[in-house]
Order: sequence, then C-alpha cells, then structure tokens
Amino acid sequence: MSLILAIESSCDETAASVCKDEVIQSNVIRSQQIHEKYGGVVPELASRAHLEAIVPVVKEALKKADCNIKDIDAFGFTQAPGLIGSLLVGAGFAKSLALSLQKPLIAVHHMQAHVLANLIRNKEKTNKIPSFPFLCLTVSGGHTQIVLCRSPLQLEVIGETLDDAAGEAFDKTAKMLGLPYPGGPLIDKYAAEGNAVFEFPEPKIDGLNFSFSGLKTAILYFIRDSRKNDPDFVEKNIKDICASVQSRIISILMHKLEMAAAQTGIREVCIAGGVSANKGLRKALQQAGENKGWNTYIPAFEYCTDNAAMIAITAYYKYRNHLFAPLDITTSAKTAF
Ligand code: KG4
Ligand code: ZN
Repeated sequence: MSLILAIESSCDETAASVCKDEVIQSNVIRSQQIHEKYGGVVPELASRAHLEAIVPVVKEALKKADCNIKDIDAFGFTQAPGLIGSLLVGAGFAKSLALSLQKPLIAVHHMQAHVLANLIRNKEKTNKIPSFPFLCLTVSGGHTQIVLCRSPLQLEVIGETLDDAAGEAFDKTAKMLGLPYPGGPLIDKYAAEGNAVFEFPEPKIDGLNFSFSGLKTAILYFIRDSRKNDPDFVEKNIKDICASVQSRIISILMHKLEMAAAQTGIREVCIAGGVSANKGLRKALQQAGENKGWNTYIPAFEYCTDNAAMIAITAYYKYRNHLFAPLDITTSAKTAF
C-alpha cells in the first residue's frame, strides 16, 4: 500500500490530494477569484495567490485524508506544462517536503494526469475504469488532444489542435458575448436552455487534428453582422447562440474522436480535461457509445477541471514503477509527454 500527496499549481487552481493506491482520500481545490476582473489569468497574480494558498490547501488535504505528513510515501507535483511561476510554487513545495522527509519526489505531466483521471477508483472500487488500450479525448483550456493509451505510462498523442484549444473556443466565445471569464461553464448553462438554430462552419482539417480559429472568426463576424440589424441581438438570443456554438464545438470534437476509433479499432473511449465537464459533450459521448458499441468513460465531475487527484493517481503509477525525479528537476511551461 502506498500513500501519496500530490500538488497541482499549473494555472489558477491551488490543489492538493492524498491517494491510497488508486483511491483518492482527499481532493482539495482553491480557485483564484482575483483574475475574474481581468477577463483572464494574470500569471504574476497567480503565482502570488499560489504562495498564499499552498500551506492551508496541503494541510486541509492531509486532514481530510486523516493522515500525518510523516505517513506519506512520496510527493507528486505538476512539472509541466503551465504558467512557469505557478508551477514553481508547487514544485518548490513538493521538493522541500521530499527533501526534509527523505521521501521520493515524483514529477507529473499535467496532460497525462488529465487522461489518467479516468483510472481513479472510488472508495468501494465499484466504478468502471477503461481497460487498455483506450482512447482519450483530452479537452482543456490550453490543449485539445486525442491520446492513445497503451498503459498508464505509455501515452501517444495521435491528434491535436493546430491553433486554439476547445476550452479557448468556449472562453473566447463567452468573451465576445460579454460573459465573464472563464466562460465555458456559462455557455454550457445557457446552451441547455437554448436551441442550436444558428449555423457555424466545421473546419476541414486533415487526419485527427483540430482547428478552432476559423470558428472563432465566424462567431465574431456573426455577432458583428447581427448587431448591425439589431443592437440587442446578442442579449435577445444568448441561449440559442450558446447552444449553436456549443453544438458545433462538440461536433468538431466528436467527428475526430469517431475517426480515431475507426482507425485504431479501439472501442474503449474516454474524455478528460475541463471541457469534459460540459453537459452537451458528456451526452454526445454517451450517445456515440450507444450508437457505435463503445464503452465510454468520463471522470467524476471534480476530476475533470484542474485538480490534484489526477496528479496523485499519475504519481501512484509512476511510484509503482520507481519513476522518481531528482531534487534539481526544473519545471517547464511547455513539453510534450
Ligand atoms: O482542464 P482545465 O480545468 O484547465 C486547463 O488545464 O486548461 O480546463 C479549463 C477549461 C476552460 O477553458 C473552461 O472554460 C473549460 O475548461 N470548462 C468548460 C466547462 N467547465 C470548464 N467548458 C465547457 N463547458 C463546461 N461545463
Ligand atoms: Zn488542466
């Protein structure tokens, strides 16, 4: 049995989690509100807020897991990718703990962790988890990838976005509509109350790659032209606009996922990342599963958006394979896994 404490601090969430093997014992997340008034994450403010939050967040994670720091077998942290100043706070904290308690340090890739969130077991170990090999559509604020997973530590990106990420498409649309940051969850909420009556184009991109920049431009022109005829067009039609944009983002994602499943012959299919919290996407995956005979998996809601439980489960698999990091390991804003 292993007990791992993991820290996530790659963007604007300070999070800590304790796992006992693949079962999460605590999952504490403190979201930074300070960025709201700037309409996006301000890196310098994020680092400072992580510094303020990290001690109480780690303490709470230990308390909720009912364990003492001395019981921890290894310390995991997000090493890449992310905002460098934010990553450094979590990395420095995990390194100090590993050094002072003479325990292994485990470096985790944030995007691998989003995928492996699908392997988290509930306390009763009754939840279904995918068997290998499986496909994972990882959709977050900074990434959109189709990943082929042969084992927890053998992941291959077989398709990805050439420009904006799906989460960015949601957030930038929200900004154009005058909604607060991050707009993804609000578009989701409005979309549920509207109808997809407006047509937005689906880009023609080769293979399993994605593109969302054309959609962004189409939405910008649509709003501009509609407002010429009726200045209150957006306010009057906000629900239908959100439903239409969301429906197109989902169809772009699902078409490529279907193509990946057809090409690989894999029928174990997962989604992960912040956008996998989207109700429309969750429904679309479930429906595709029924139509195509896939087994589909979605992490529990609290493991979709940024969290430390996904860092903990990934650290657990690395721990089992003795994949430890040296204390002088550096963080990295961008690296592939
Ligand atoms: O994975 P995540 O928490 O952070 C990154 O690693 O980027 O993803 C954040 C992204 C944001 O773009 C946010 O708007 C989007 O996930 N998001 C959603 C929903 N919840 C979060 N997008 C659509 N519908 C949602 N319900
Ligand atoms: Zn993320």
